[in-house]
Amino acid sequence: MSHAVPVPVLTIDGPSGSGKGTISALVAEHLGWRLLDSGALYRAVGYAAGMAGLDLSDVEAVTRCAHGTKIQFRAAPDGSATRVMVNGHDATDELRTETAGAAASAIASMPSVREALVALQLGFRKSPGLVADGRDMGTVIFPDAAFKVFLTASAAERAKRRYKQLKEKGLSVTLAGLQREIEARDSRDASRAVAPLKPAEDAVLVDTTGMGIDEVVAKVLAVVQP
Ligand code: C5P
Repeated sequence: MSHAVPVPVLTIDGPSGSGKGTISALVAEHLGWRLLDSGALYRAVGYAAGMAGLDLSDVEAVTRCAHGTKIQFRAAPDGSATRVMVNGHDATDELRTETAGAAASAIASMPSVREALVALQLGFRKSPGLVADGRDMGTVIFPDAAFKVFLTASAAERAKRRYKQLKEKGLSVTLAGLQREIEARDSRDASRAVAPLKPAEDAVLVDTTGMGIDEVVAKVLAVVQP
């Protein structure tokens, strides 16, 4: 089997609010490939640790939690966004909050937690192909991916996009507060020792500031189908 053609992977990495989630889902749908939302895994572990009352800086306890948490993605029956089940509970809405993002970012800096999630992520690589959305998809998890994209946008634009998303969900947030949270999370993600947020050397950089969704999707698809 060693001569089998590897399942193609498109990695889409970038900071929060760069549009990765939306773009990855649309590109995966267009290509008919599977989708890995790796951020949801870190969010799920942070959430499970919080629910269990763990101290989020207790590496041993959080690592045990990462190994013990059952995370499942379920297609919604009405075709709307995929639901994320954490230990059998639909935690989709809780996982989207900025609090869940901050908890994810805190536990994601622990090498043993990242290690605990590697096999699960590799398991998503199935025929006919995979779109992998995250921070270290092209650098650590799928370094051999044939296609790599790094999406960016200015912090101000990313805060604006997040603000709109969260407001639509009826959450009470301020633009200035969001921008501060996003910048703090980015700097923690970019400066951590393991799997920091950075483009793979062979990634195509796409700055989405001022670009519409369709335009970004077309740019990313052009990387796979030039
Ligand atoms: O992409 P999302 O905002 O859902 O990710 C939440 C957090 O999970 C990020 O801020 C980052 O700290 C962490 N993460 C990571 N590696 C990934 C995906 C997410 O460290 N591949």
